[in-house]
Amino acid sequence: MNLELSQFPTDFAWGTATASYQIEGAATEDGRGASIWDSFTRVPGAILDGSNGDVATDHYHRVAEDVALMSSLGVNSYRFSIAWPRIQANGKGSPNRAGLDFYRRLAEQLLDKGITPFATLYHWDLPQALEDDDGWLNRDTAWRFADYSRIVAEQLGDVVGHWITLNEPWCSSFLGYAAGIHAPGRTVGTNAAHAVHHLLLGHGLATQAIRETQPHSQVGVTLNLYSVRAASDSAADRDAARRIDGLQNRLFLDPVLTGAYPADVLADLGQAEWFASQPASDASTIAASIDFLGVNYYSRFTVAGGVTSSTADEPASAFPGSEAVQFLDAGEAKTQMGWPIVPEGLVEVLQFVEDRRPGLPTYITENGSAFEDIPDAGGYVDDEARLEYLRSHLRACADALSLGLPLAGYFSWSLMDNFEWAQGYTRRFGLAYVDYSTGRRTLKRSGRWLARFLSS
Ligand code: FCB
Repeated sequence: MNLELSQFPTDFAWGTATASYQIEGAATEDGRGASIWDSFTRVPGAILDGSNGDVATDHYHRVAEDVALMSSLGVNSYRFSIAWPRIQANGKGSPNRAGLDFYRRLAEQLLDKGITPFATLYHWDLPQALEDDDGWLNRDTAWRFADYSRIVAEQLGDVVGHWITLNEPWCSSFLGYAAGIHAPGRTVGTNAAHAVHHLLLGHGLATQAIRETQPHSQVGVTLNLYSVRAASDSAADRDAARRIDGLQNRLFLDPVLTGAYPADVLADLGQAEWFASQPASDASTIAASIDFLGVNYYSRFTVAGGVTSSTADEPASAFPGSEAVQFLDAGEAKTQMGWPIVPEGLVEVLQFVEDRRPGLPTYITENGSAFEDIPDAGGYVDDEARLEYLRSHLRACADALSLGLPLAGYFSWSLMDNFEWAQGYTRRFGLAYVDYSTGRRTLKRSGRWLARFLSS
């Protein structure tokens, strides 16, 4: 199928996405406190190349240049995140004016260029002081998050009209507290599900707080949804797919969209009793009505069941309670992250949302790919593979629209190369190449293509 701009509604949000810790740098400037990523990146061996976000792409000092870069792409929207420790160094108390001013300047420059700001309130940089009090395992953190969200919405609500409470609570809970491969690097096993509940509670409370102060704003949450396939039709493989779809997708989608956790998943986690002991009103708080759902789509899992050889030496699992599941290579082409390239899965995950809440607008708030980039002497990268990934996923978006799914926008991950969490600077997802020694940004072939497409 060919791809044309006319396949998309005229008010479609076309954007790029970034996150504070991955791009800003300026880690100790203007009153910013420490986050769990500042601490975690200091743990020997935690980050593949031993790097951190102290400087990152130096976006904090290059806002004007980066807004101009977006403008050259022709996008009409930009998804960025606000660093909680810039607003409240210790995660509580009165706000830091310099931090608020930084995001106000960014939003104003975007609006000047006709670019709509979409602000994520939590893209993983929890103030370290809150982690010292047990972080997301502590129920109180949900209220701290709502207080912070209220402050930001009150102070910036005149320049930001679209809010995303959380980015990928699956990662914050299971990668951060079960697998320990993301900050804060803890391995509490199935108790990581308590972090899921507190994150979602924080989402619900923050949604209420934003609505109270900015009744006309649009509020949503971003989940990372995966297409999940059973390797065969056997009962064991189908059960593996049920488990992984449960932990990855339904454990988050169901409480947010339907007001109830999936009972089979709580049972797999051995956490049914703990969840039953939580206040009954939590469910309605978490199901606070949202205006849109953000979906980050990257890939598909193909899984098989029935493995019984788990040993105590195995690394902690990102799917606790499902250690007997095997992730298989189904033979698809993969990105440099090892993620299978499956554009049609994007339509599938939008359909999951539609099945639970017909008509709820969705945005693809992230989609993109890492490939090994080799710049020429001028810094230009001919990234044919990334361009093909982008094109094929935009075709999937067009397919979703032609099926009548209420997709309202697409944000490419990412505007520019940046700090890719546990992989440090070894993985590049940008539409623009960043030379980390000079900070120079150069649009790659994929970026140039997007600019041409958007102006067509
Ligand atoms: C997502 C994250 C984002 C980025 C991409 C590659 O899980 O939300 O920050 O790292 O993966």
